Amino acid sequence: AAIVEHTFNVQNLTISRLCKRQVITVVNGSLPGPTVRVKEGDSLVIHVINNSPHNITIHWHGIFHRLTVWADGPSMITQCPIQPAGHRYAYRFNITGQEGTLWWHAHSSFLRATVYGAIIIRPKSGHSYPFPKPHKEVPIIFGEWWNTDVVALEEAAIATGVPPNNSDAYTINGLPGNLYPCSKDRMFNLDVVKGKLYLLRIINAAMNMQLFFKIANHKLTVVAADAVYTKPYLTDVIVIAPGQTVDALLHADQSIGSSYYMAAHPYASTPLVPFPNTTTRGVIHYIGGASKTRRTKRVLMPKLPSFFDTPTAHRFYSNLTSLVGGPHWVPVPHHVDEEMLVTIGLGLEACAKCPNSKFAASMNNHSFVLPKKLSILEAVFHGVDGIFTPDFPNQPPVKFDYTDPNITQTSPGLLFVHKSTSAKVLKFNTTVDLVLQNHALLAAENHPMHLHGFNFHVLAQGFGNYDPTRDRSKYNLVNPQFRNTLAVPVGGWAVVRFRADNPGAWIMHCHIDVHLPFGLGMVFVVENGPTKSTSLPPPPPDLPRC
Ligand code: C2O
Repeated sequence: AAIVEHTFNVQNLTISRLCKRQVITVVNGSLPGPTVRVKEGDSLVIHVINNSPHNITIHWHGIFHRLTVWADGPSMITQCPIQPAGHRYAYRFNITGQEGTLWWHAHSSFLRATVYGAIIIRPKSGHSYPFPKPHKEVPIIFGEWWNTDVVALEEAAIATGVPPNNSDAYTINGLPGNLYPCSKDRMFNLDVVKGKLYLLRIINAAMNMQLFFKIANHKLTVVAADAVYTKPYLTDVIVIAPGQTVDALLHADQSIGSSYYMAAHPYASTPLVPFPNTTTRGVIHYIGGASKTRRTKRVLMPKLPSFFDTPTAHRFYSNLTSLVGGPHWVPVPHHVDEEMLVTIGLGLEACAKCPNSKFAASMNNHSFVLPKKLSILEAVFHGVDGIFTPDFPNQPPVKFDYTDPNITQTSPGLLFVHKSTSAKVLKFNTTVDLVLQNHALLAAENHPMHLHGFNFHVLAQGFGNYDPTRDRSKYNLVNPQFRNTLAVPVGGWAVVRFRADNPGAWIMHCHIDVHLPFGLGMVFVVENGPTKSTSLPPPPPDLPRC
């Protein structure tokens, strides 16, 4: 195993997109930032130097961080931010037990709009993929672009409690594509050779939207999701929520000289939440033989599903399964120690004196607030009181019934939420079943829930109320997906199971970016195990101070 070292210089850059010049914050002068390429078993050291004007942290999304929770990165959960003016922090962690595609992104304010990049984990030397070796591997990273300062945009959203304006474009590898103004030359192009196999490493780094993705005249075979191998799944459309990754094989089987658009646009789970109904695209060109150059005269466009096509989204999301017995396959633990029913959604801030309550998102009516003085992990390690409260409940405060109109719209016990910094403390090695139930108080919508530090087995999902007597029998205990981000169906539920076998403070939150500052998050504090090798190590000496 190797030690892979990178330096990430965070700085501002002026670039032009959509006919405008805009100052953005990026890593090493590029959008997306650098791709981190490692093999399973390698160690990473990433020196982050902050030369931007913003406080920043970087999160390694989906990495298990075995005993390296100090490198996880969410601001005020595992560290104070790295301050401007050249302050730095070295993120040190190992890659164990996962292969495929993950990604890194800023985890403080709205900065991840432009501060993100791919992490590609290949098998150790001497090991191979559980599928035919691809000729080339191609990151496909979706993003969102705003013609404005994204940090100011989010600050305004937090101050008013109104979600930020929609983005002005979607992007593929930082490029909007030619359906947007001034973007003819800002389109992702991929040259392929007829007969070859390509591995697309697809990442949804968009801030707000789930996406449908298609390539005209081609099918794709999904082979991994969130850096876990899946049973090969043939499909003509990929559905991907913010935070998720999908690895898919593309067989280049069309004729030399032809070109095809790849395109992505939103899956909008509800008409109640406005979304930009625009499309990003790139082109695949078959070159070779007499066709040495790209032909772009006649390019075929794929027909994407309609924006509200929940059946297509649900089919894709719920049909993926893990590759039983494949590399690093983890069977589902059968014994469960804790069961939690957690409502997720948007309510109103409980505030007696406010004439108009602000929107506030919550989990079990706790609207999460980041601590200000010290990170939760430092509070845990040093035993500092008053930073968080270990009171996150196993049940919502009011019996939840999605189908009861009295409860869904008017029950104050559910609609009005309380601000707190709540954690659920778990004994080492506890196995937890989490029933995530979307409620319909203000707008039922699909929330992509992400858990740091662990993957969870996705046992079942559905629409309406979760009903234990009916739905327990549906659990897939044989080959469920094992992933770090799950799109909980709109107005529905999902059951996930994970084993808390890594001590630390791990945030779980909605990956629609502004939903976290609105409060859609909570923290699992996992206690130390019985031995040194199952206990939190001390913080690294260069951990940033608040
Ligand atoms: Cu990809 Cu807490 O985030």
